[in-house]
Amino acid sequence: ESSTEIDISAIQPGQAIKAVFRKQPVFVRNLTAKEIAEANAVSVSSLRDPQTLAERTKEGHENWLITMGVCTHLGCVPLGAGEGEVRGEFGGYFCPCHGSHYDTAARIRKGPAPKNLEVPEYVFNSDTVVKIG
Ligand code: FES
Repeated sequence: ESSTEIDISAIQPGQAIKAVFRKQPVFVRNLTAKEIAEANAVSVSSLRDPQTLAERTKEGHENWLITMGVCTHLGCVPLGAGEGEVRGEFGGYFCPCHGSHYDTAARIRKGPAPKNLEVPEYVFNSDTVVKIG
């Protein structure tokens, strides 16, 4: 009943948008090749919440990073989806409440948040429409 369809056709590489899913923000980011390479260059075992970019995206759509826009520390909305270049030290998202930095796979890299930004359930209805939930 409460799924959300998002048209992603206008989101350019390097851009992210904020949508709403179950009254919470969700971020949809079109990763550049450089951002993908940066995410894949990280030693996964060094991460606080070890996950690869591939585990956080869908096969064949690895450039689309879809996460909840809810900091896993105390629930603030991180910056980086629609706020220009405010993306923190690791190029993904930055939560200004207590300074959590997320990388280009939205994985926690620095600051108090314990987990990566959550990836919701979603499917690609087509190459340009995503259904979340
Ligand atoms: Fe994001 Fe505390 S709520 S760092």
